[in-house]
Amino acid sequence: MNPAPAQTASQTLPRTFGRYQLFDRVGAGGMAEIYLARARTELGGARLVVVKQILPDLSGNEQFAEMLIQEAKLAARLNHANVVQVFDLGRHEGVLFIAMDYVDGFDLNELLRRCARSKTPLPIPFALLIVIEALRGLDYAHRRADDFGAPMGIVHRDVSPSNVLISFDGEIKLCDFGIARANDMADVLPEDAIKGKAGYMSPEQARGEPIDARSDVFAIGIVLWELIAGRKLYKASDTGPTLLQLARAAEIPPLPSRDLPSEPELHAIVEHALTADRDQRFASAQAMLKALEGYVADAKLMASPIRFGEWLRDNFGQALIVSRKARERAARAIELGPAAVVEPYGTPAPPAVAPAPAASTAPAPEPEAEPEQVPASKPHDAPVPDAPLAGALGPPLATPELVAAPGPAKRGSFAIWFAVGVLLGIVAIALLLWK
Ligand SMILES: Nc1ncnc2c1ncn2[C@@H]1O[C@H](COP(=O)(O)OP(=O)(O)OP(=O)(O)O)[C@@H](O)[C@H]1O
Ligand SMILES: [Mg+2]
Repeated sequence: MNPAPAQTASQTLPRTFGRYQLFDRVGAGGMAEIYLARARTELGGARLVVVKQILPDLSGNEQFAEMLIQEAKLAARLNHANVVQVFDLGRHEGVLFIAMDYVDGFDLNELLRRCARSKTPLPIPFALLIVIEALRGLDYAHRRADDFGAPMGIVHRDVSPSNVLISFDGEIKLCDFGIARANDMADVLPEDAIKGKAGYMSPEQARGEPIDARSDVFAIGIVLWELIAGRKLYKASDTGPTLLQLARAAEIPPLPSRDLPSEPELHAIVEHALTADRDQRFASAQAMLKALEGYVADAKLMASPIRFGEWLRDNFGQALIVSRKARERAARAIELGPAAVVEPYGTPAPPAVAPAPAASTAPAPEPEAEPEQVPASKPHDAPVPDAPLAGALGPPLATPELVAAPGPAKRGSFAIWFAVGVLLGIVAIALLLWK
């Protein structure tokens, strides 16, 4: 069982949390709730951010909090196009939080789910682009050195589809760097949250051994395997081995053929990344990146983020409209000032954007079934009715409706303006009569 979430749907939004105005709940993971928020900037403007609030049980755990703060401080030093920028970290009203850039789009899990639901295969060039861009982020983080040039030894530890964020502009960013270390404290995490992570663990991590950057190489190798195969690598069942046992054994079935050019070359790359003995694996994310880039160039399966963004908008533009409309309403409610209440409200879905022809004609894997990238028991896997992104998970599309009630301050200022208007009118008439 997971602990009760810190916030519930009935709690009012927007609300102030430190220097942030929380106005929407984007999702929830095993250890935190994710809010979309606006942060006032020094110049007086406001920017969209994500505030990750650690669940109260974990926030209150000293050992966990210390680990999280220590690691998130390192993560905040990462600054790269393929890494979600963390810019604030602290504790407010007893709640540990991390503030980071908002990525307007889907996580990879959600994208695959949508592809499966709409029977829209993810073209292989885009699948390869996702992994290449994620590898760029990993390579940067693994090689990051401190101010004295000493390697910081950053390992993500939780490279999985829910931590690969994809924007509607086609950008791919890894999130949750530095958070997974605290995650590894299995004794304080909800059991379901740990089980969910096992599906992307290297064998050494699943055995609880010390890990290095090569563990992230194995994890991204699993992501690549699944994107090519169109199914999950490890599947636990009630009677068979658990995900953790499967991860320890690391038995990798051969990939099915997708009739890709120079396919054995691609399969060899996946196999190399998924070698159980880490000394035989790619020695770094950079080595895997080079190999994959080489393959993509040779096989002419190159794709650009711009094209990927177009494809996303053509195929899933409706979700974009829903999320942007909900945000506009929330922003307007904040501008109005008085408290607005977020209520799950089944507003009719906006007109669907006519799907344009796929941007690529390259062969694409057809997902076998709807991918379950996280076990169904994971909290955020269940539909979250009060979040526009999560709300858009399944039909009917439910978006939050922000109901803003006019507050007393607004009514008071209207009365003053009315009185001033009447007074000016009387003066004008008196002047006319006097003339
Ligand atoms: N910076 C962000 N911008 C947009 N959406 C985000 C951002 N960070 C997280 N999310 C969304 O919130 C969801 C929940 O995130 P969270 O990190 O709490 O859980 P998780 O990734 O599923 O699990 P965990 O990271 O604990 O393994 C993500 O899957 C993603 O869809
Ligand atoms: Mg995450």
